[in-house]
Amino acid sequence: MQPLILADRITCRIDQKEILKDVSFSIGMGEYVALIGANGSGKTTLARHLNALLTPIEGNVLIAGKNTRDRHNHSCIRADIGMVFQQPEDQIVSALVEEDVAFGPENLCRLPSEIRTLVDQALAGVLAMQPRAIIFDEATAMLDPAGRRDVMSYLAKLHNAGTTILTITHRMEEVLHAERVLVLNHGRLVFDGTPQALFADPSLVAANNLELPAAVEFKNAFPGWFSGIACSSSLAERLLAAIPAYSGTLDTGDFSETVVHSGGANLIEIDKLAFSYSQDSYFAVPALYDVNLSMAANAPHGLTGATGAGKSTLLQHLNGLYRPQQGSVRVGEFDLNSADLDLKALRRYIGLVFQNPELYFFKQYVGDEIAFGPRMLGLGEELRQRVRWAMELTGLDFENDKDRVLTTLSGGEQRKVALAAGLALNPGILVLDEPTAGLDPFSRRQLLQNLKRLIADGTQLLFSSHQMEEISALAKNLTVLSNGVTLTTAPVHEVFLDRPLMNQAGLEQPFSVQLADALRAKKWPVRRNTLTLTDVLSEIGKYKDEAAHA
Ligand SMILES: Nc1ncnc2c1ncn2[C@@H]1O[C@H](COP(=O)(O)OP(=O)(O)OP(=O)(O)O)[C@@H](O)[C@H]1O
Ligand SMILES: [Mg+2]
Repeated sequence: MQPLILADRITCRIDQKEILKDVSFSIGMGEYVALIGANGSGKTTLARHLNALLTPIEGNVLIAGKNTRDRHNHSCIRADIGMVFQQPEDQIVSALVEEDVAFGPENLCRLPSEIRTLVDQALAGVLAMQPRAIIFDEATAMLDPAGRRDVMSYLAKLHNAGTTILTITHRMEEVLHAERVLVLNHGRLVFDGTPQALFADPSLVAANNLELPAAVEFKNAFPGWFSGIACSSSLAERLLAAIPAYSGTLDTGDFSETVVHSGGANLIEIDKLAFSYSQDSYFAVPALYDVNLSMAANAPHGLTGATGAGKSTLLQHLNGLYRPQQGSVRVGEFDLNSADLDLKALRRYIGLVFQNPELYFFKQYVGDEIAFGPRMLGLGEELRQRVRWAMELTGLDFENDKDRVLTTLSGGEQRKVALAAGLALNPGILVLDEPTAGLDPFSRRQLLQNLKRLIADGTQLLFSSHQMEEISALAKNLTVLSNGVTLTTAPVHEVFLDRPLMNQAGLEQPFSVQLADALRAKKWPVRRNTLTLTDVLSEIGKYKDEAAHA
């Protein structure tokens, strides 16, 4: 039978640079395929070839037998292939199948609460067209856990109804939902097979900036326990259910860890903050009702909550972009309620990297963009060193990347530039809004490691995140917002172990915490403050041989 999508030796070259090289594959009706690879490996570019937004320099793309080179085929092809794009502007995308793809101004400056609606509309829009295939380019990247789950179950429904799915993602657990996975590396297709085959080859995974899903990593660490369980989309739940009971002699009562609250004066103090957009107008949109937050010194602080909870609005109060309408905000010595606030000095002290930093680029070249802030701060001799340092922290290559044109970067590469520009300021308090959204797994790990190093060297970090794994890895304390109200500020593990609270906030325990919980339920001596998979593995690794009956 004729495949729905056929890519036959396609090559894409822009300004001498080969972005896709000799890529061939075919996708049949009804398949569920994941397309993955490092930032800049060519995923978005490939997707654009499949609905004729781009045509190959060499080779051919045939959709249901129709060549994308023939303009007369375009309306047919775009009716067949629905797209939900990755948009660097806001990482979320509206659904378009028509020629007049509505990127651009009308998608800028959205309130966070609209993102969820946008995704729903995008899906509804695409579905209304009843395409034969839908391509999702990182559709879940900016969503909270509940939103992500919804999108994933949507995809499953579509797939069951016979729609062909091609999903681009940096989240490896989502890859387990696909039947087949394509891996791009520097524009070449280097793997085409099942997720099981891919994840069975850790060196291939590592060579492509990918990682194993946490559940697979755990399964691999205890082959004896889970030998009968296949790597499917329900792997995590099945592993949790199959954990053997602990039969060792350690008294698990010893392991209910006491919490260490970090002492010291608070760096940031927010009290009863309320804020509406377009205050006093007919269009007023309340975003914050009652926000309280205390951030202690030397205690990396996370801020989480469902999409639209008010995280970005809150963070933008910290550098004086928004001023408190009610309540008070203090950052270090700065009183944000004061009429004669020294904004310049404040912004030297607190460096904020926005959620949609790409919106704020105003230089043409990567290096200039990153140098801009420190130059304004009067950095002279050390400027070049500072730029190099900041680029390396985010995984950019100083020599190769500094002269690239910003608008030609991939979504993840732009995100790295924005992060580097924030880091280059080397502020007293570093504030990052969703730091790792859009980064490939390797870049994300690298950034997290580097941030940990900075923290160890004295950087004060406040960050917002939907990624529970990232919060586990970085934060000591966590503030949870829900609909503009602070639900709690507490040590991360206390929040994560409070399931009713997590549900109320639309969040989900990370797999590692679910695992630690399930292990404790089977009497394994696992401390209550065990947060990351590495910690879980080292906690139980000590006892597994003597103690489990598998
Ligand atoms: N118009 C352009 N001019 C020059 N280079 C471009 C252009 N468009 C894309 N590129 C380059 O092509 C490469 C692939 O980009 P693409 O957006 O397809 O990557 P991606 O795999 O989707 O990455 P990400 O995971 O970051 O979204 C990048 O190195 C990018 O800089
Ligand atoms: Mg992309």
